[in-house]
Amino acid sequence: MIETSAAAPPAEAVADFAEDVRRDLALSPKQIQSKYLYNALGSCLFEAICRLPWYRITRAEGRLLSRWAEPMVASLPDPLTFVELGCGSGEKVAMLAEALRSRRRSVSVHLIDISPIALELSERTLGRLEHVSVVGHRTTYEEGLRHAATLRPSGVTMLVLFLGSNIGNFDPPAAHDFLSQIRRALRPGDALLLGADLVKSERELLLAYDDPLGVTAAFNKNLLVRINRELLADFDLASFDHRAVWNAAESRVEMHLVSRHAQQVNIPRAGCTVSFERGEHIWTENSYKYTIEEVVQRGERAGFRSREQWVDGDARFALTLFVAN
Ligand code: TRP
Repeated sequence: MIETSAAAPPAEAVADFAEDVRRDLALSPKQIQSKYLYNALGSCLFEAICRLPWYRITRAEGRLLSRWAEPMVASLPDPLTFVELGCGSGEKVAMLAEALRSRRRSVSVHLIDISPIALELSERTLGRLEHVSVVGHRTTYEEGLRHAATLRPSGVTMLVLFLGSNIGNFDPPAAHDFLSQIRRALRPGDALLLGADLVKSERELLLAYDDPLGVTAAFNKNLLVRINRELLADFDLASFDHRAVWNAAESRVEMHLVSRHAQQVNIPRAGCTVSFERGEHIWTENSYKYTIEEVVQRGERAGFRSREQWVDGDARFALTLFVAN
């Protein structure tokens, strides 16, 4: 069974985008919210990033899931509902759902993503599994989670999946708030499986976020393509460079778009003209890197206890299963 909640009206989405762009390009430093990376083209570029030899997170997580999916779900009482925040292609949640099949345990899966492409791909992936029923929510994590929680019948255990390095895209106070919000949507005994990319060498980190094929650069610059197309702007793509910087003090990789020279850009639908100095940057994303201890502390401070942790020693990536207190 596949259901998808209605898409947001495009005119409204464009108006929100225009307002965010106008406000955030007036900040210092200039910013564009990273959620705008994931339109149809951006989602495909991110899928390509996940296949790059230098971006090892997705494969590391796939290895952990294919090896440990059974024990990850074994201890959770039936019946189960999975809620995946940011579902990508749906392959990860499918691996966990597969682990239930051998025991003839059925599961309902709520997919929450702002990208219609991600929902479509995931629904197709999960549609092949007979013991799985799927509900797609095209919305923000917060709203989708709230909605999924209200649809959950009593006596059903909820497992929230927040995988990849999604948590890394929140700064520490926002990560705390977000995990606390997940906790508030849950009941004692419900669970959270949290992915986190771990601190590693600067060289490895920069290759992951500024790859030699230029796919990550294209992914980042797609923000400008989107502003050109949707807000009728005149960004010259060749006048901006993608740059990834490792900020060791903050333990994060920062993504920027750097203006190669002084220039002005018109953004008619946002009602503004933006000036750039040479070398001035637009800050588009942070990707925080954790130690394994920090991951456990994060969850514990938000009202969970950690039950088990699986670490890919090669790529330095961790999955941690938390249970709500
Ligand atoms: N969540 C991903 C991460 O932090 C997003 C990402 C990967 C990303 N490469 C990027 C975001 C490049 C902006 C630019 O790993």
